[in-house]
Amino acid sequence: MDVPTVANGIPALGLGTYKNTGEQATESVRTALEMGYRHVDTAAYYENEAAVGAGIAAASVPREDVTVATKLWYDDLAGDDVVPAAKASMSRLDLDSVDLLYVHWPAGSYAAAGTMPALNELHDAGLIDNVAVSNFTPEQLATAQDHSAAPIVANQVECHPLLQQDELRNYCENENIAVVAYAPIARGKVADVPELTDIAAKHDVSEVQVSLAWLRQHGVAAIPKATGEAHIRANWESQELALDDGDMATIDNLDREERLIDPGFAAW
Ligand SMILES: NC(=O)c1ccc[n+]([C@@H]2O[C@H](COP(=O)([O-])OP(=O)(O)OC[C@H]3O[C@@H](n4cnc5c(N)ncnc54)[C@H](OP(=O)(O)O)[C@@H]3O)[C@@H](O)[C@H]2O)c1
Repeated sequence: MDVPTVANGIPALGLGTYKNTGEQATESVRTALEMGYRHVDTAAYYENEAAVGAGIAAASVPREDVTVATKLWYDDLAGDDVVPAAKASMSRLDLDSVDLLYVHWPAGSYAAAGTMPALNELHDAGLIDNVAVSNFTPEQLATAQDHSAAPIVANQVECHPLLQQDELRNYCENENIAVVAYAPIARGKVADVPELTDIAAKHDVSEVQVSLAWLRQHGVAAIPKATGEAHIRANWESQELALDDGDMATIDNLDREERLIDPGFAAW
């Protein structure tokens, strides 16, 4: 089955898994894949790669049909640490390769000149299909691009109607870098925005579904974290929602530059 995609063929909807661990994570991943999802997001930091890998194995979906994404934590980004850390992630996932390997944060031992060539080594060896980054500003993307022969296919950042990231989205669009939105429903806060409630009522859907459709219609992939079948299904069904130009314009005007994930080591 074909699923909607954004730049570089990345499925527009993926399953987020932060704070979903153990058997529950395995079950969430299996449920999502069997429902039609073809994109799963994890990270070494989430301590759930083995559970996510078990969900991928348990689902009746061919491995090659799924975009599997994981991330290297910021203390594993020195040139010599990248390859062993990536191999450890793949071992926990029980996969021979991953589709997207992200630099989780440009922080800690990250240095473009050391980290990016090591990611390219993994790419050239066929252990990762694509090089990707997360939480990079346009300036950091440009520097990383200078040190990467392989294209940087995605930048995963916080993005939702309350933090729209216009400048970053423009940069990425011009450079053919997919934007993958994390916290795409602002961890539930979108339900408290009256304009989203009005649009949701008009279409007989939820504010969460409106937010996911808004991202998709802007060419941004989204990886909402959902644990049980009801949320996993509601998010999947957001792909059937088509917002009209008026809805899109209303949401475009809701930006509050309201950042939820803002650790001290972030560059902004
Ligand atoms: N790269 C990074 O630095 C970074 C940072 C943060 C997150 N991420 C990734 O992005 C993913 C998503 O971000 P997030 O987990 O922070 O926030 P989020 O996806 O915006 O929100 C997750 C919350 O929304 C709830 N939810 C999901 N679907 C819903 C629905 N249809 N209706 C009502 N509530 C719903 C979930 O509940 P249930 O769990 O109960 O379903 C959970 O409490 C993460 O899981 C992770 O994979 C990456």
